[in-house]
Amino acid sequence: MNPTMRAAVAHTYGSPEVVQVERVPIPKLAPGRIMIRVVATPVTRGDTIQRAATFPSGMAVLGRLMTGLRGPRRPVLGAVFAGVVSALGAGVTDLSVGDRVAGVNGPEGGAHAEYVVAKAASCVRIPDEVSAGEAAATLFGGTTATYFLERGGLRPGARVLINGGSGEVGVMALQITRLRGATVTGVASGKNTPLMRELGADEVIDYTENPLETHRQRYDLVLDTVGNLGPSDADRLLKEDGRLVLLRAGLNQMIASGRRVVTGSSLGRADGAAELLESVRTKTLKPVIDRVFPLADVAAAHRRVDSLRKTGSVLIDISEDIVT
Ligand SMILES: NC(=O)c1ccc[n+]([C@@H]2O[C@H](COP(=O)([O-])OP(=O)(O)OC[C@H]3O[C@@H](n4cnc5c(N)ncnc54)[C@H](OP(=O)(O)O)[C@@H]3O)[C@@H](O)[C@H]2O)c1
Repeated sequence: MNPTMRAAVAHTYGSPEVVQVERVPIPKLAPGRIMIRVVATPVTRGDTIQRAATFPSGMAVLGRLMTGLRGPRRPVLGAVFAGVVSALGAGVTDLSVGDRVAGVNGPEGGAHAEYVVAKAASCVRIPDEVSAGEAAATLFGGTTATYFLERGGLRPGARVLINGGSGEVGVMALQITRLRGATVTGVASGKNTPLMRELGADEVIDYTENPLETHRQRYDLVLDTVGNLGPSDADRLLKEDGRLVLLRAGLNQMIASGRRVVTGSSLGRADGAAELLESVRTKTLKPVIDRVFPLADVAAAHRRVDSLRKTGSVLIDISEDIVT
């Protein structure tokens, strides 16, 4: 009989309750891959979109073709993990059983489980001083922010606005922008303005008092993680050579994109993963953890992410001995 493990499984699209903990076969190793005993894994907006099939406007058909017509084709969600290497596939020489690693499994998912199999090349060692929880809370937002800030032309001295500066991507985008020597303004509601200041924002905007629709400052780069900006905001918010980067772009926005309005996907990329964890080690980058749930409460973790109010990352503690 095949060995089994506990995993969070979604057989159909729907509300958080479609995610149930079941015993499923432990995935099989393959050449170039490693098996990781997962310690901590975030429930991200990518996971909840795949669970509920809430793709951006105009993307419903394409989204379902990619993830499954009637339900997730890969029922164990979870693109990002941190844990301990438990077995090596053929040809893996640069990692050993017992190494602490973190990685981004992209569309293959499978991290909301006791074990995940991932390409060795998409994993990085977790520095000794960094906990699995910190690593798990860094990689989704950090690699996404790294990719899209680069696409937006981030450079020292630039004036940057992060819309949604307290979310999983936003907390990383704010800090990376500051670390690269740019000036950063963060946008969130008043309860999150102290957090954005603590993370290094030069200016903060409480959108409940000063809606961005009426904002008249201009920036070299605007990163929208919320999804309430579009190409029609570009002239009002951007300097002449500025770029507006839309993380949740619908089909029409993608069609309208170009040099000034940037869209795209960072799915499966792990841009800057090792550098991000090194910055956590040196305490120049701070992971932000909203809440930690045991695997048994995975539906509650999905509900928290669906609230669109989380600050930083929602984690699942798989080992239940997570140190945050
Ligand atoms: N294209 C890609 O490849 C890609 C990759 C990764 C992520 N994404 C997308 O990026 C988006 C952001 O993900 P995330 O995980 O960072 O989101 P998140 O963590 O769910 O964002 C939540 C935060 O957004 C803030 N917020 C909510 N409404 C706001 C508003 N109107 N103005 C400003 N801030 C607001 C909230 O602060 P308050 O509670 O203070 O309002 C909260 O802290 C998602 O849509 C995700 O799908 C795209």
